[in-house]
Amino acid sequence: MAFIPEVLQFDSLPSTNVEAARRAAEGAAEGLCIVAREQTTGRGRLQRQWLSPKDAGLYFSIVLRPEFEQNTWSLLTLMAAVAVSDALREACSLETDIKWPNDILANDRKLCGILAETVETPMGRAVVVGIGINLTEHSFPEELELVATSVEAATGHHHRPKTVLVPLISALEKYYRALRASSGPETIIREWCERSSYAEGKLIRVVESNETLIGTTRGLERDGALRVETPTGLRIVHAGDVTSVRPNQELS
Ligand code: BTN
Repeated sequence: MAFIPEVLQFDSLPSTNVEAARRAAEGAAEGLCIVAREQTTGRGRLQRQWLSPKDAGLYFSIVLRPEFEQNTWSLLTLMAAVAVSDALREACSLETDIKWPNDILANDRKLCGILAETVETPMGRAVVVGIGINLTEHSFPEELELVATSVEAATGHHHRPKTVLVPLISALEKYYRALRASSGPETIIREWCERSSYAEGKLIRVVESNETLIGTTRGLERDGALRVETPTGLRIVHAGDVTSVRPNQELS
């Protein structure tokens, strides 16, 4: 067993990531899971807000204390994406796609976001992995309906947070254990590539902090970075916002 899960459930929190980080800093053990029915200041990537109305989504964070080299910690979010993909298949019979690095999509729309943050603790640096899954259409604002979706919209069925939570924690345990093995990075990358249409041969646009590039995906590096073949050569992308591009879109 990689960790012993302990789940704390709250009616309302500012952010499950913030609560998990606070408890990690106080010495919480690896495997502590924080779940809230709503978040009042849910956090997304790139300082964005993650809307989290009551009972409209699963708002979940887990404390991890990885002992492997920090240069592969970026694989933790890919691992979490693989776990979410398995949990949604098992709990909701929903097949999803993963957009690099860790957005879960259904019908090309975002259904789940993952935010990993490091936290300094007396037992060393820990990682909080936060996962937000849209369960109903109320979990995102109307203006996002062209780019966002929910489990309910994708399956036609309402699923309660707990239905997804239980298989999610088991999948996280399974893939975290796999990641800690000596061939862990290769295993996680293989599992990720099997679930993602973005792994190979996808024409994409990547917006990095100071540059935008267009190219075709060519798999992942051992640390999870995305290989992109561009007209000027192979580029390795470590961070950036990825969108898929239709070929005629690129020419116009
Ligand atoms: C993204 O922008 O794609 C990442 C969104 C992550 C949202 C989840 S909801 C549970 C956890 N707590 C937070 O404040 N954020 C993450």
